[in-house]
Amino acid sequence: MSRGKLLAVDDDRNLLKIITMRLESLDYEVTPARNESEARQAIASQAFDLAVVDLQLEQQDGITLMEELHVTCPGMAVIILTAFGSIENAVEAMQRGAFSYLTKPFDARELGLHVERALENRRLTTEVKRLKGLLAERYDFANVVARSESMRRVLEVVTQIAESDSTVYIHGESGTGKEVIARAVHLASGRKDRPFVAINCAALPETLLESELFGHEKGAFTGAIRTSKGLFAQAHGGTILLDEIGDMPLSIQAKFLRVLQERQFYPVGSDRPLEVDVRVIVATNKNLEELVRQSLFREDLYYRIHVIPITLPPLRERTEDISLLAETFLKKFGRSMKKRVKGFSPAAMQRLMLHDWPGNVRELENTIEYAVAMATQEVINEGLILPAKNGEVREPLKPLKEAKDGFESSYLVRLLELTGGNISRAAALAGKYRADFYTLLKKHRLDPADFKR
Ligand SMILES: Nc1ncnc2c1ncn2[C@@H]1O[C@H](COP(=O)(O)OP(=O)(O)OP(=O)(O)O)[C@@H](O)[C@H]1O
Ligand SMILES: [Mg+2]
Repeated sequence: MSRGKLLAVDDDRNLLKIITMRLESLDYEVTPARNESEARQAIASQAFDLAVVDLQLEQQDGITLMEELHVTCPGMAVIILTAFGSIENAVEAMQRGAFSYLTKPFDARELGLHVERALENRRLTTEVKRLKGLLAERYDFANVVARSESMRRVLEVVTQIAESDSTVYIHGESGTGKEVIARAVHLASGRKDRPFVAINCAALPETLLESELFGHEKGAFTGAIRTSKGLFAQAHGGTILLDEIGDMPLSIQAKFLRVLQERQFYPVGSDRPLEVDVRVIVATNKNLEELVRQSLFREDLYYRIHVIPITLPPLRERTEDISLLAETFLKKFGRSMKKRVKGFSPAAMQRLMLHDWPGNVRELENTIEYAVAMATQEVINEGLILPAKNGEVREPLKPLKEAKDGFESSYLVRLLELTGGNISRAAALAGKYRADFYTLLKKHRLDPADFKR
């Protein structure tokens, strides 16, 4: 096997022959070129690792030719051959991108050494570039905090499988970052410029979930005033995350299986199948095998989605991540609340490390949010570290009226988000008449148009 592809350019035929023979004897594959145009032709049709170029050519000087060749083949190393005594030219050659120069006459060993050094240098440069590329990929995950070995392995898997279209199955306790990882898979894939759509299968009643996922024809059911595009269609070309897949009703499981097998489905009330190209990611905090045993989850679907399993360990099993996550959240909330907070007191940090975080990263995030909100000093003290057992934000007690209004407002926002600003559906879910529902929206200054997808 050749040790590299070289181009030799010299208008002195004898010298060209000697160079070619010597380099070939060192196991390089050499293409000789007697002038500029032969060199250009050669480089137009193949890639070279290195070129040996004579400074004095017929029409041009070797340095100009080198620059021209570098346009086509920027990574190619170039060794310039100079006549005895033209040291300035040699220096200029180096400044303009040559790797080294050789003064004629030179002996075979010297030429061989230069070529070897140049190729070695090129290999190192390529390796550095490759490593930088890997780092850049990591950088894409900058919003995913991962210091522990187990989380770094998760990110490695994400990198490896991102490009494939295989279904990803993410399992982990509530709040471990399943959605974060699903987004990372999407962002690391070729689909990253297409939509990422997420739906929580546990958040909607059966009929609504079906029309959310697959869309419906106008008049398919009461309230279906217009044809609507389902999430599978919206995610076309991109990625869909089906969160809490364990809560998907059996009737919808059958339809979903069909999407996975045939990449097509029927919108509710339609007899025309729709074809989609989506990468499917499912997530669950339940034990699906158990649900399969209880016949609550289809076994065939389980095997269909269980292609690339990713398990997210609970936070208490990766304590190395706690301090980094805590600091990340501290910065984030400090910025958004415009508060000067620098860090945690040692006792506060110890408290963070010792808690067992049943609500995982989400609970930690909420705990830090509360601490930053309540902080009166630049350093967060242990007294402000109050993890809530169920992972909910602990807020200072408000007067009942204010608390009720706050609840009502966020309830309405959730409804509108779920229904994509569809008033009939939102009102129906809330068990309210449309007119009353409108009054509520007005009271909280909410505009359904803001929630339309
Ligand atoms: N590795 C991480 N780096 C930074 N933030 C994280 C990480 N993991 C989780 N988070 C944050 O924690 C919160 C919970 O994450 P996420 O919603 O992805 O969890 P989940 O496993 O989907 O939870 P659930 O089971 O309740 O749906 C989010 O606000 C997310 O930004
Ligand atoms: Mg989730």
